[in-house]
Amino acid sequence: MSSSSSSVPNNLDAFWMPFTANRQFKSNPRMLVSAKGMHYTNAEGGKVLDGTAGLWCCNAGHSDPRVVEAVSNQISEMDYAPAFQMGHPKVFELAARVSAMLPNGLDHVFFTNSGSESVDTALKIALAYHRARGEGTRTRFIGRERGYHGVGFGGITVGGIVANRKTFGPLLAGADHLSHTHLPEKNAYTRGLPEYGTELADELEKLVTLHDASNIAAVIVEPVAGSTGVIMPPKGYLERLRKICDKHGILLIFDEVITGFGRLGASFATEYFDVKPDLITMAKGLTGGTIPMGGVVCTKDIYDTFMTGPDNMIELFHGYTYSGHPVAAAAGLAALDCYQEDSLFERANDLAGYWEDALHSLKGCPHVTDLRNLGLIGAIELEPIPGKPTARAFDAFLKCYEKGVLIRTTGDIIALSPPLIIEKEHIDQIFDTIRSVLSELD
Ligand SMILES: Cc1ncc(COP(=O)(O)O)c(C=O)c1O
Repeated sequence: MSSSSSSVPNNLDAFWMPFTANRQFKSNPRMLVSAKGMHYTNAEGGKVLDGTAGLWCCNAGHSDPRVVEAVSNQISEMDYAPAFQMGHPKVFELAARVSAMLPNGLDHVFFTNSGSESVDTALKIALAYHRARGEGTRTRFIGRERGYHGVGFGGITVGGIVANRKTFGPLLAGADHLSHTHLPEKNAYTRGLPEYGTELADELEKLVTLHDASNIAAVIVEPVAGSTGVIMPPKGYLERLRKICDKHGILLIFDEVITGFGRLGASFATEYFDVKPDLITMAKGLTGGTIPMGGVVCTKDIYDTFMTGPDNMIELFHGYTYSGHPVAAAAGLAALDCYQEDSLFERANDLAGYWEDALHSLKGCPHVTDLRNLGLIGAIELEPIPGKPTARAFDAFLKCYEKGVLIRTTGDIIALSPPLIIEKEHIDQIFDTIRSVLSELD
């Protein structure tokens, strides 16, 4: 028997939920059934304030009528068009609009369906680029500890999450990792970018000395690491990485899956930090989370390197059935309209100070060991319960949900990333709720 979308289904067993404690969830489900603006509604009819933009993706809030209309119009006009050897207008328009948001020279967009696919695509482009230039020995990748680059084999190889390395075997050959830049003993309670840790970028020089630059294809980092607990780049760190990459002909990839589309109060982190990578991966905010879509932007130099040889030959042997899907492209164009018409990136920038003050007002609350923020990102690090890592933060998550606020936790860190349409009263509600929950935790 089918159930209506607003009630809890009779059988929760069949669906194997991603990144979820399945048995725990299914014993006490948290079912969201509708969403509008800053709020979800759950199956019990309760309103839940979205402190996480879904999963860092609903930057324009939920179910904006402009996106809803664009998606419904597109699906009635044309549901799908083949992605290979055929085109449709909206995907070209979207690529032009995305590249117009980026610094000059980052001109070409390859569409995917997710952040994970974007990362694997960027790594493949980097390998193929070097090979096309006659430097096919450049095959090694350098990621960073505590980096998250999605769940494909490329992404988990360059990522620095121990659970992946423990669970999924040897991964791809030829990857090294820079140290992460989380230095709470020196940088705790920093507002904005931390002072200490810039020199950790110099580890790249050591890896070049070890392997020789002629073997290294690319370095990939998140300008601000999100999924492993919100780790900011120390002041000058990204600039230093850029310099070392330039010196050795190594491509620099910024994984902007969470920092893209206004999260820092600028279009992308590349604009915010004024550091230009060779490739940018994106997803999430590209369609405001409405329809799955990702993309990789590369420089004109990279693109032009491929555009040689007989013109009837496919230049890059790569693509997805749904690359640039028409409905996703329509959603992307409408999401960009929302960002632009409502000046949401400027809004994020304007609210960042209020957000920072509200977050740092939690200093001194029980269990709090660090508070970090940038743009509309916030992190609250908690002292773990001895012998029970993650339990305290997860309890905070459950208690906040019961009080009508959706937060996200990773390890014992609460990570916040609200839709950019957030109002000051919502910011107050998020931090007041967390404050009261912190005082109730074991
Ligand atoms: C920096 C980064 N890269 C890649 C991904 C993977 O994106 P997806 O889950 O869409 O595959 C994420 C997801 O959170 C991310 O934060």
